[in-house]
Amino acid sequence: MQIMKPPFSPSSSIIRNKGRFSTYLFTLLAFIIFVTILYGEDFMCIFGQQLQNYSNQDKIYSTPKRVKKHVKVPFAVGKTEEGCDIFSGRWVWDEVSRPLYEESECPYIQPQLTCQEHGRPDKDYQHWRWQPHGCDLPKFNASLMLETLRGKRMMFVGDSLNRGQYVSFVCLLHQLIHEDAKSMETFDSLTVFTAKEYNATIEFYWAPFLLESNSDNAVTHRISDRVVRKGSINKHGRNWKGVDILVFNTYLWWMTGLKMKILLGSFDDEVQEIVTTSTEDAYRMAMKSMLRWVRLNMDPKKTRVFFTSMSPSHGKSIDWGGEPGGNCYNETKLISNSTYWGSDCRKSIMQVIGEVLSKTKIPITFLNITQLSSYRRDAHTSIYKKQWSPLTQEQLDNPVSYADCVHWCLPGLQDNWNELLFAKLFYP
Ligand SMILES: *[C@@H]1O[C@H](CO)[C@@H](O)[C@H](O)[C@H]1NC(C)=O
Ligand SMILES: *[C@@H]1O[C@H](CO)[C@@H](O)[C@H](O)[C@H]1NC(C)=O
Ligand SMILES: *[C@@H]1O[C@H](CO)[C@@H](O)[C@H](O)[C@H]1NC(C)=O
Ligand SMILES: *[C@@H]1O[C@H](CO)[C@@H](O)[C@H](O)[C@H]1NC(C)=O
Ligand SMILES: *[C@@H]1O[C@H](CO)[C@@H](O)[C@H](O)[C@H]1NC(C)=O
Ligand SMILES: *[C@@H]1O[C@H](CO)[C@@H](O)[C@H](O)[C@H]1NC(C)=O
Repeated sequence: MQIMKPPFSPSSSIIRNKGRFSTYLFTLLAFIIFVTILYGEDFMCIFGQQLQNYSNQDKIYSTPKRVKKHVKVPFAVGKTEEGCDIFSGRWVWDEVSRPLYEESECPYIQPQLTCQEHGRPDKDYQHWRWQPHGCDLPKFNASLMLETLRGKRMMFVGDSLNRGQYVSFVCLLHQLIHEDAKSMETFDSLTVFTAKEYNATIEFYWAPFLLESNSDNAVTHRISDRVVRKGSINKHGRNWKGVDILVFNTYLWWMTGLKMKILLGSFDDEVQEIVTTSTEDAYRMAMKSMLRWVRLNMDPKKTRVFFTSMSPSHGKSIDWGGEPGGNCYNETKLISNSTYWGSDCRKSIMQVIGEVLSKTKIPITFLNITQLSSYRRDAHTSIYKKQWSPLTQEQLDNPVSYADCVHWCLPGLQDNWNELLFAKLFYP
């Protein structure tokens, strides 16, 4: 399986000079870029120009109505109890049925997510199960899932967080498939898991902004100075055509801490026409493009489309009342404050999502995983992952400096996202 290059892979212009100073400069630059991508969300809070005054925005989000009651929803086999919001609930300790699979039993997990293999000393993060307040979640039935996918394609589209959910999904299924009847291959932006006996594929497509951007190379993404091209959804969208179940996400890459740069023409134009806009407006533009693409390309009578909300990061322990300077490193317990939300910046994006989805008639199922994940400061990969480049002594002496508080260990939190996806797919 192809793996993403480090976000701080040296660009040729930086390493042209070999002097001591430039090495230092490179290290510093690499560090800044690294921190920016890991904690982009917080950077936006610090430097963001569009910080809003939330106190006068107490509007209650109406849960968007996506599916009319009398219409038969594709793939439905039952119904969730009337009035049960499965995203509202609590984490319960479950030593019996968790984890849903063992890290060592799923060969598809990238080395950036195999925490046990990389020395994580505790396993508690594997034993939590999401329990909605209003009802019980159906058990993830891998056989039902595979039968449903017979002769079909399912695809996750988005960034590395969605790739994590994709891998979790494959891990939840693959044990039912015989060793020589399954495979996983990567072709540029597309990773395809094939279940041969079922003639089914479960795929992941790298498109961190959904729209065309200068970060689209699945291996070497340019990461500073991101530019997104307006109206470009078909650039990637043509690769999603014919898919039966689509799962979108997009969030982290919008968190540049600056206004977003939007390209009006084409990346091939000699003189590029770029305008800047607030992150919220840019995000709204992308969501609307996605909806338009869904309207034109997906048949609501036969297919389903999901949109996953923002995956929260835990880069600043003061957010949850911890010591200043800390982050998710060394956190093994959940945040118990049920009103904890974390960075306010997520709120404005959630508001955009709520607005856009509540106005559309296109049936999109929203997976609102942000709040339930925000309690899980314990579930990140932290320092227990394959590192892109050797760590310096200075870093080793200060693990907080290189802990990844964005991505999640597998098995773990993201298996719960897939149980919610399963519930919404079969019991809408
Ligand atoms: C936020 O809005 C409230 C009510 O409108 C106002 O009293 C307060 O001064 C504002 N705060 C800032 C920082 O603008
Ligand atoms: C899982 O789904 C299959 C249908 O593919 C069904 O026969 C089986 O009873 C289900 N198992 C459970 C535990 O619900
Ligand atoms: C396999 O699935 C694809 C859709 O993914 C479909 O077009 C094709 O006809 C199927 N082939 C068989 C032999 O069922
Ligand atoms: C990790 O946390 C525990 C308490 O939860 C503390 O005793 C220990 O010193 C911490 N370790 C590091 C390296 O910060
Ligand atoms: C719980 O979180 C909310 C929102 O972040 C915060 O206002 C409140 O002070 C927290 N309560 C405790 C007991 O930490
Ligand atoms: C998602 O859930 C959070 C927390 O329950 C809620 O505040 C927010 O309004 C929900 N978002 C949407 C778009 O429904």
